[in-house]
Amino acid sequence: MARCYCRWRNVLMCLCAPCILMVLLFTYITLMVCFNMTVTTSTSGTAMLLRGAEITHFIASGTYRTNFLAPLPKTFWDLHPHRGAVWNELQLAIDRYYNPILSPKRKYKRLNPMYESLLGQSFSTVGDLDTSMSKFANLPQRMLEFVSHMHQRDYPILIQPNMTCGAGAKEEKEPPLLLLAIKTTGMNFENRQAIRQSWGQAGWVAGHKRNRGGEGEGSEREGGGYVRRVFLLGKENHKELGVDISELLFLESKHYGDILQWDFRDSFFNLTLKDVLFWDWFSRLCGRTRFVFKGDDDIFVNTPAMIDYLQDQLQKPKAHSVMRDFMVGDVIGAAIPNRVNKSKYFVPDSFYKGLYPAYAGGGGVVYSGLLTKRLNHISKRVHLFPIDDVFVGMCMVRLNAYPTHNPAFLTFDFPEKEEEEPCAYHTILVVHKRRPSQVLKLWAGLNETQAECWNATLRNANNKKN
Ligand SMILES: *[C@@H]1O[C@H](CO)[C@@H](O)[C@H](O)[C@H]1NC(C)=O
Ligand SMILES: *[C@@H]1O[C@H](CO)[C@@H](O)[C@H](O)[C@H]1NC(C)=O
Ligand SMILES: *[C@@H]1O[C@H](CO)[C@@H](O)[C@H](O)[C@H]1NC(C)=O
Repeated sequence: MARCYCRWRNVLMCLCAPCILMVLLFTYITLMVCFNMTVTTSTSGTAMLLRGAEITHFIASGTYRTNFLAPLPKTFWDLHPHRGAVWNELQLAIDRYYNPILSPKRKYKRLNPMYESLLGQSFSTVGDLDTSMSKFANLPQRMLEFVSHMHQRDYPILIQPNMTCGAGAKEEKEPPLLLLAIKTTGMNFENRQAIRQSWGQAGWVAGHKRNRGGEGEGSEREGGGYVRRVFLLGKENHKELGVDISELLFLESKHYGDILQWDFRDSFFNLTLKDVLFWDWFSRLCGRTRFVFKGDDDIFVNTPAMIDYLQDQLQKPKAHSVMRDFMVGDVIGAAIPNRVNKSKYFVPDSFYKGLYPAYAGGGGVVYSGLLTKRLNHISKRVHLFPIDDVFVGMCMVRLNAYPTHNPAFLTFDFPEKEEEEPCAYHTILVVHKRRPSQVLKLWAGLNETQAECWNATLRNANNKKN
């Protein structure tokens, strides 16, 4: 009996010992995997943190998000998916600095006043930047120029409106509803003039609603608001033409008071500077302005309809909290960077990897004054990017704010033939692109057809896509 028991014990030992070991090994592996996954999801996930009244949104590298999906790490086992791209490397250094998990103490601090040196520092902390830079040697000249100046953003103002927030400050009885901020260049005098004479008139602008309906609701509320205007310019060099543009601009500014010019070269890749510097200027001088319309100088805007649209936004319930994130335009979601080296929008993958965040096309976009100030604040943590509207999208992501798509913003013009329909221009807020002579004609047409088109509504305004 004892021998039998012993045999059985040996058999049990032989069978169970490996089993027990396997169970232990399995437990160990499970624990390790779980542990690693928590670490990965918490560092590449998104975390919101409250800092006083300001909500800051932390974005880890390698994550992307749309309005429909929760943030996803693209390749969760790859801790550094965008290695070798200059912008990503530099931004990673900044995002790490503000990462609430890596540096929890920092989260209740105000924005580091040394942010500029922080942006500068990230250039030296990024180790293999030189190898990335070396790949740049055979890139287009303007990309090289951009990279060599991307740490610099505090250019002085050369000309500005007389310490007011744009032209049209006289006799306002309430805070301005809208500031039109138009990107232009010194040579485009004709465009500026057409805008001044048409959709860009400063002062009191009535909405269309006042004229609608005759008796009844139309006369109850006098829709309208004060509009101001400012043109955003860099500096151009036209020695070959034998004219001194700055002299002319100075005279133009004296006459119209709507010129805001900085001392940097006016080039396509420097357009982001206009946004950043404009936000700063706005935050100092335009405190009470409700909305900013930022557009190019080759667009047409249905300003009365825009006024109505914005007044409607202010009448909505919870308007104040909506204003924190309010940005509306032609939204492009998850775009792929342009890799065709002949294109104006070409961005090589040695500079940027990954998709672009959702952004509103820069041809014409409207956002709240409150958001402008928040953008000004957050932009100091984002490295300059050569495509201006993408840069705005990158700042928006870091505010945990997303632009809203509105089909009345036609930054790629009308769909075929629709332009010819009667009242077509009464159904839009913005259309790109129009020459100065067309702008004047369209403006006159808009006023002539007002009675005829009184009941035209904005394109699909009721089923806005997000
Ligand atoms: C652009 O790309 C083509 C082929 O992909 C190449 O031959 C050419 O040298 C490139 N040009 C520049 C300026 O990098
Ligand atoms: C701005 O101020 C300057 C000097 O004070 C004056 O010459 C100019 O006319 C003013 N411009 C406007 C548009 O008011
Ligand atoms: C931007 O402006 C600065 C200052 O004038 C200039 O040095 C730089 O070359 C410009 N960058 C581009 C890409 O044109």
